[in-house]
Parts: sequence; structure tokens; C-alpha cells
Amino acid sequence: MVTRAVVLVVALAAVMPLLTGGIDNKQVKLLATRFNVTCVVVFGDSSVDPGNNNYIATSMKGNFLPYGKDFFRGRPTGRFSNGRLATDFIAEALGYTKAIRPFLHKRLRPVDILHGVSFASAASGYDELTANLSNVLPLSKQLEYFREYKMRLRRLVGAGKAENIIKNSVAVLSMGTNDFLENYYLEPIRPKQYTLEQYQNYLASCMSDHVKTMHGLGVTRLVVVGVPALGCMPLVKTLMNQKTCVEKYNNFSSSFNSKLQLKLDVARKTLGMKIGYVDAYGIFRDAVNNPKKYGLIETSKGCCGTGTVEYGDTCKGMSTCADASKYVFWDAVHPTERMYEIIAGQAIDSLRKQLMA
Ligand SMILES: *[C@@H]1O[C@H](CO)[C@@H](O)[C@H](O)[C@H]1NC(C)=O
Ligand SMILES: *[C@@H]1O[C@H](CO)[C@@H](O)[C@H](O)[C@H]1NC(C)=O
Ligand SMILES: *[C@@H]1O[C@H](CO)[C@@H](O)[C@H](O)[C@H]1NC(C)=O
Repeated sequence: MVTRAVVLVVALAAVMPLLTGGIDNKQVKLLATRFNVTCVVVFGDSSVDPGNNNYIATSMKGNFLPYGKDFFRGRPTGRFSNGRLATDFIAEALGYTKAIRPFLHKRLRPVDILHGVSFASAASGYDELTANLSNVLPLSKQLEYFREYKMRLRRLVGAGKAENIIKNSVAVLSMGTNDFLENYYLEPIRPKQYTLEQYQNYLASCMSDHVKTMHGLGVTRLVVVGVPALGCMPLVKTLMNQKTCVEKYNNFSSSFNSKLQLKLDVARKTLGMKIGYVDAYGIFRDAVNNPKKYGLIETSKGCCGTGTVEYGDTCKGMSTCADASKYVFWDAVHPTERMYEIIAGQAIDSLRKQLMA
């Protein structure tokens, strides 16, 4: 009996990763066909930047090994992970590409223009100052590039069809972490102007202005990703000298996310946009608290170097753990490809429930 129970548990454990955080590509494809979604456009920070920063004068880059070691052909691309990002999985589920190209890529193919690109830039944030500090693309610039992209799409398929593709497209917006980690906690400018609560309100209103701009540019379906559990990031735990997630930082994340969601409610009503919300905070907390559910083992350290402090340049050339797919974090800040796959599963769920219902 005992043996049989053990066998059953082992068998279940082997199946679980497929069940939890898996993506039902077939169902997504059906929905996409029904709602005529052929294009995904992406805005944000390192969580969704496939390499735009490779083309700009910034030190915030991830285009060297070990970044990309589990990407196709083990190639670094500028993605701040060992492999693909959540948006790559979403694009794959829709059926057009396995990896979304950065808009600044020198050789965009017609297929990239037709089915979407990413304008995201690592180290960016809702606050323009956040992007300025690292000389990366603020959201205003990302939206300027989106205008350029629309012109290229028009040249490719004609004005009417281009308008239709954008109208039916899904836009993804994922940022906010750097406004806290790279800006408010390190730079004296914003803390002199705003209390933390006021700053959160400021960020939420920046987000809301940008959503209006997107709407003006023809976007009707949007998925907004909330900030993850900042207090569970290995870097934050190291800086605060704590073994467990730093509650104070997690509280910042959850209170900011509440403010974001209130603004999104307003945008849904006043703009008539379909807006989905992805609770990245909840996904991270759940993965850290119940790793087995997702086939994960290491929730505390990153896979790169010591896993406690390295990210970006300090991760360059470092040795890594043997199997990143068992880790929540790839470096001391960014998730692994496996974690991105789990986030993509939830994003697709939100797409299904909130955008295509
Ligand atoms: C960011 O930089 C741009 C270009 O230099 C400047 O126009 C803008 O005012 C800056 N924004 C902030 C918030 O510092
Ligand atoms: C679907 O979108 C295409 C453009 O991508 C457009 O030509 C076509 O008319 C749309 N079909 C429906 C049913 O809306
Ligand atoms: C976090 O927030 C909860 C409820 O909002 C509160 O009970 C708790 O004391 C807060 N913890 C810290 C460290 O701020």
C-alpha cells in the first residue's frame, strides 16, 4: 500500500507541472481566431524587453551569457532571463512566432510587423525619470515608436487593414518595479517631492495617462501586469539581510497594485477599453509559498552566480545552477523562463476571462 501511494505521488508530481501554469495553446488559438487577434504589441521594462536596449546607449543590457543560455541555440538576446519571456509564450500560443522581436531590431521581417513587436526597454518605469536615470526608453518614447510601427504596418498592408489589425490586437503593459527599486529607493529626487503613498498615486496616474494615449492610437484590448512581490526578490532580501520575503516591500507592491487596478476600472468605464489585469504579485507569492505545485524547487536564490546579488553586468560570465527550470529567479531580480511560462498561463487566463468574454 505504502509503495503504491508513493508511486502515485511520484506519478502525480510528474504530471503536476503540466497542469499548473501550463498553457492551453489550442484553446488560445481558437479564441484568437474567434476574436480575430493576429497581433501582440508590448510595452514595459525588462520583464518584457526582448532586446531593445541592445540598440541604445545604456548600461542596462542582458545580451551576454549566461543570459539566454536556454533560449533557442543558447543565444543571449537582451532578454533578462535564461530563455523566453511571458510575452513570447503568449505570442506562441496565438500561433505566429515563438519569440517577439524588439522594435529596434535592424532586420524586422514583414511577419514581425504583421503580428507584433515589443517596444519595452529594461530599467524603464511609469515615471519618466526612472527611464532617464538609466538612459533607456520611457513609455512616452515607446509609444512614439508605436506610432512609427503603425506607419510601417500601413505601408505593408494598407490603411484600412492596418487599422483593423491594431483594433483587434492585444497590447501588453508590464512595468513599475524600477520606479521603486531603481528610482525611489536609490535617488533622492522623488522622495523629496512625494511620500511613498503620493508617489504611488503619481505612478498610477502616469499609467492612466499612457493608457489614454494607447486608446487614442487605436488600442482597444490591453493586458496590464501588476508589479511582482518586490520583497521576495533575492536582491531585496540580501539588502535587507532577511531570509524570508520582506513584508514591508511586499506591502508596497500590493498597495501600488490596488491603486493601479482602481485606475484600470476608471479606464474601462470612461474609455470603453477591454482591460485585463495580471496579478504578478499573487503568482510570485504562490510560487514562493507552494513551489511544488509548479514543479519548482529553489524559491529563494537566483540561478546566476551566488543568486543573492547578481543581475545585469554583475551576472556577466558567471556560472549558473544546473537546472534553471527548478528556480523561481534567474538572477537576483528577474524570473526564470519557467516562471515566465507560469505568468503567461495566467495572462492568457486573464485574456480569456476579461478581454475575450
Ligand atoms: C527626461 O529626459 C527628457 C529628455 O532629456 C526630458 O525632456 C524630460 O523632462 C526628462 N523627464 C524627467 C521626468 O526628468
Ligand atoms: C479580421 O481582421 C482582418 C485584419 O487583420 C480584417 O481584414 C478582417 O475583416 C477581420 N475580420 C473580422 C471578422 O472582423
Ligand atoms: C503589511 O500590511 C498588512 C495589512 O495591510 C499589515 O497588517 C502589516 O503590518 C504590514 N506589514 C508591514 C511590515 O508593513
